[in-house]
Amino acid sequence: MQQKEVRFEYDIYDSIQALDKADANLLEQARKNTASAYAPYSEFKVGAAALLANGEMVNGSNQENASTPVGLCAERVLLSAISSLFPDTAIQTMAISFHNMKGASDHPISPCGICRQTILEYQIRLKHPIRLILSGMEGEVYILPDAAQLLPLSFTSNDMK
Ligand code: THU
Repeated sequence: MQQKEVRFEYDIYDSIQALDKADANLLEQARKNTASAYAPYSEFKVGAAALLANGEMVNGSNQENASTPVGLCAERVLLSAISSLFPDTAIQTMAISFHNMKGASDHPISPCGICRQTILEYQIRLKHPIRLILSGMEGEVYILPDAAQLLPLSFTSNDMK
């Protein structure tokens, strides 16, 4: 019998003020993008923004539907936009924020399970780790060097070869 341990490290900053200019800029954009969310059902507006290897910044936000499972998270809206606008361009960093219309927006959130799987597919396809910047509209900021850390023992195309 063997045992393995999975652990990862991430950085915690007190606020956006502690970030370098490029990261602060991207997080600011993700915060702004909460305004374009269509979230009349949850009233939980998520904004995302990505910085690509070609220097372009792309925006996304969650888009809900009266038929709940049809709704899309901000992360997957963003990834689809990137893939359509700039196919084959590596994604360097994704920032994710949220505005909870019913409560506080002062702590980081991290991508849901489906989004983690989707992000991983893009990382593998584009052969580049995606850094994540996670924060609400204010308060602490988490920075993860590689989104794959969020999905250990993941299922990938390699498993089907
Ligand atoms: N949501 C996101 O867009 N991203 C996340 O990381 C978590 C959840 C959305 C889905 C739904 O529209 C709303 O937030 C509440 O779950």
